[in-house]
Amino acid sequence: MRFSAAAAAVLAIPGVSANLHQLAVGAGKKFFGSATDNGELSDAAYLAILNDTKEFGQITPGNGQKWQFTEPSQGSFSYTAGDQIVNLAKANGQLVRCHTLVWHSQLPSWVSSGSWTKDQLTSIIQTHIANEVGHYKGQCYSWDVVNEAIDDSGVYRTSVFYNVLGTDFIPIAFKAAAAADPAAKLYYNDYNIEYSGAKHTRALEVVDIVQKAGARIDGVGLQAHFIVGSVASQSDLTNVLQSYIDAGVSEVSYTELDIRFSSLPASASGLQQQATDYSTVTKACLAVAECIGITIWDFTDKYSWIPSTFPGQGAALLYDENFSKKPAWTAVSSVLAAAATGVATATATTIATPSTTLATSVVPTSTKTTAAPATSTTASSSAAARWAQCGGKGWTGPTTCVSGSTCTYQNDYYSQCL
Ligand code: G3I
Repeated sequence: MRFSAAAAAVLAIPGVSANLHQLAVGAGKKFFGSATDNGELSDAAYLAILNDTKEFGQITPGNGQKWQFTEPSQGSFSYTAGDQIVNLAKANGQLVRCHTLVWHSQLPSWVSSGSWTKDQLTSIIQTHIANEVGHYKGQCYSWDVVNEAIDDSGVYRTSVFYNVLGTDFIPIAFKAAAAADPAAKLYYNDYNIEYSGAKHTRALEVVDIVQKAGARIDGVGLQAHFIVGSVASQSDLTNVLQSYIDAGVSEVSYTELDIRFSSLPASASGLQQQATDYSTVTKACLAVAECIGITIWDFTDKYSWIPSTFPGQGAALLYDENFSKKPAWTAVSSVLAAAATGVATATATTIATPSTTLATSVVPTSTKTTAAPATSTTASSSAAARWAQCGGKGWTGPTTCVSGSTCTYQNDYYSQCL
């Protein structure tokens, strides 16, 4: 790897390297991490990077701890998939963000299709959480206790949990998790709550509901599934992070960061814009002391969830499909290096394209240039970009949204145009 003279000087400081986790720790954060999934672990080139604890100090199991896999039929628990990833992290000394306990998606039909009384469903939630959190007791830095309880218009999402219990299912879940592992940090985790708006307001209400019920909630996880060129401003991101702290949680975290192209292939200017967008998110976390870390939703485009959910979209991560570092990696590394060393810097004016040797350019703010807007994204408005995330599922409607119009989706998610 080749570095600019300025970067080389910064990175020569003892304890500072070009690796993301090590830089994040140097900048005062707890971790820089990645999600992973079981099927990927047989890929030796992939595993070598995942196992690099200077690069990733934290791992999130992308699927294996979800209800679908851990209690596929009532009272029958299986932790094979989750254990494989937790054991790998443990062997490496990496933190684990455990994911996720109560979610309307990847929920076995015995739960979602049952006709439950309040007492029955309460008991089902408590049993599930007691068993799973008990199984992983002492091994999870944190748990995403409730995931995506709010829909994109900012109202509570229709689910078996909400339909039967109203919002009571939320504190029920937090109380059960706290009882099963008093040391694990307990999070509410959602997407499109990273910037101001109706969903953000509702997420603050979720924090309030849990607290008023006398349950413990330690953190809010902001998933951060973004689109190139449509990321909110750094000040909005920072203000929103701070708002959760002001609401009384002790920490926040970007838990599933990826920034995708809504059309491919990515152009050179698009990759520059993606680098800028990743910088913006990283700087927002750095600006809030209680933002403890950033997790990307896997690190390579080879294994991103996006193409199978949004056909024709993707290239959202820091490493390309061949495990080459992208301009966005260089940008994140540079921002973290600047924070770790206290040297006033900005991200690169010139960032190499994938498959070439990347320069980590750490340059004075005064020489910063603004990257050209992405030409390869079709998201023409931030509103379109935001709700196009669509709960992690495919969008079948138009690519632009007229404010106030109702949008329909191809699955259990639904939304209204913001
Ligand atoms: O388990 C089945 C397997 O039996 C079958 O052979 C295979 C065939 O395709 O599918 C397997 O299920 C897949 C599952 O991942 C496990 O690999 C599903 O099709 C696939 O849709 C599912 O996707 C996951 C998605 O959540 C489901 O909503 C992604 O891998 C995972 O990255 C993604 O993660 C979510 C977070 O948990 C919450 N926030 C949004 C984020 C992105 O959607």
